[in-house]
Amino acid sequence: MSLAATLRSAAAQVFVKRTATLAAALMLTLGVNALAEAAGPLNVRIGFVAPLSGDYANYGHDLQNGAQLALDEANAQNLKIGDQTAHFELVPLDDRSDPRLGVQAAATLANQGVAAVIGHFNSGTAIPASRIYESAGIPMISPAATNPVITSQGFANTFMVIANDAQNAGVAGAWAVDVLKAKRVAIVDDRSAFGQGEADVFERTVREHGGNVVAREFAEGVSDDFGPQLARIKAANADLLYFGGLARQGAALVKQMKERSVNAQFVGGGGVANPDFTQAAGAAGEGAMAWEYGRPLAQLPDGPRFEQAFKNRFGTGVLAYAPFGYDAAWAAIHAMVNAKSAKPEVYRPALKAITFDGVTGHIAFEQDGSLKNGASTLWQVKKGVWTPVVTRGG
Ligand code: ALA
Repeated sequence: MSLAATLRSAAAQVFVKRTATLAAALMLTLGVNALAEAAGPLNVRIGFVAPLSGDYANYGHDLQNGAQLALDEANAQNLKIGDQTAHFELVPLDDRSDPRLGVQAAATLANQGVAAVIGHFNSGTAIPASRIYESAGIPMISPAATNPVITSQGFANTFMVIANDAQNAGVAGAWAVDVLKAKRVAIVDDRSAFGQGEADVFERTVREHGGNVVAREFAEGVSDDFGPQLARIKAANADLLYFGGLARQGAALVKQMKERSVNAQFVGGGGVANPDFTQAAGAAGEGAMAWEYGRPLAQLPDGPRFEQAFKNRFGTGVLAYAPFGYDAAWAAIHAMVNAKSAKPEVYRPALKAITFDGVTGHIAFEQDGSLKNGASTLWQVKKGVWTPVVTRGG
């Protein structure tokens, strides 16, 4: 080959190589862009289960609104999970506080492959449903179901952002004997996994502190008639009555105590210190006490902002556990963002290790998924309004 021909051939090869490199670079850029466009935003479906109809629907809607507010805020912030902008969608299901429907709802959400579940409201539904989530590998974050059994089953997917009843009813029992100086304690519970569970802890703690339990009674199903139970409690001359159950039955009980001149101090466990109780109990509720999970919202740094945002968004005030619904949803969102994935098997360790300041206080989990440093507050009805007395723990 002549020198000129050799040079022409070399030049041609360089040209071919450069063109190929440019083309490859162009294809790579186009390819990456095309991929990013194909992926688009990441839609993250978060299940929510609570009673949305039936006797406890007001608690369920309150919780749902709390969780929805968290998702609205996260969506407005255009948060990234990995390199995709996340869009969070709540998938709400109604369990009517019925364990069978709770299990059905859990199975539906497991089949749909939701990324997390916020729920349930009742311990009686949360305990059996937690088994379904565990076998599906989907984290369940309880914002209101408080029986300690929920997180003591050795499950990797069960979390609770609210103090449990070992804490809440334990503090109530110690306070009844040590501070209120109750000498003759009566206990009534609603026979639910929740109410009976907290009544058991309360009774055990009263005895441990040297107190005397003179009556242990329970509601007949959902009946609001406590006539026979109160007759026995009056005969036992109780000076303090602890109630394990929710506001509606608690209010009925306190009214019937007045009607029958049972002069014991009424002390509720969780689920009593809310406006449903004061409304239903009326004047008979004056002076009633109840231990509720967490700290008063008004005393928490982000509490007033949350209350206002909630009112603006839903046109109604917080009833009870909405702030915990909000924190439960944010725990899942933060964990997904931190782990750069909405896949439970990838983000679960980040959820377990989560640490952030929520509306209800600092959120971090013990090894078993229960809340670290849960607090309990004693409330009393003063001039018709639940008023905080003291906070323990936290
Ligand atoms: N804390 C209540 C329960 O566990 C609502 O059922």
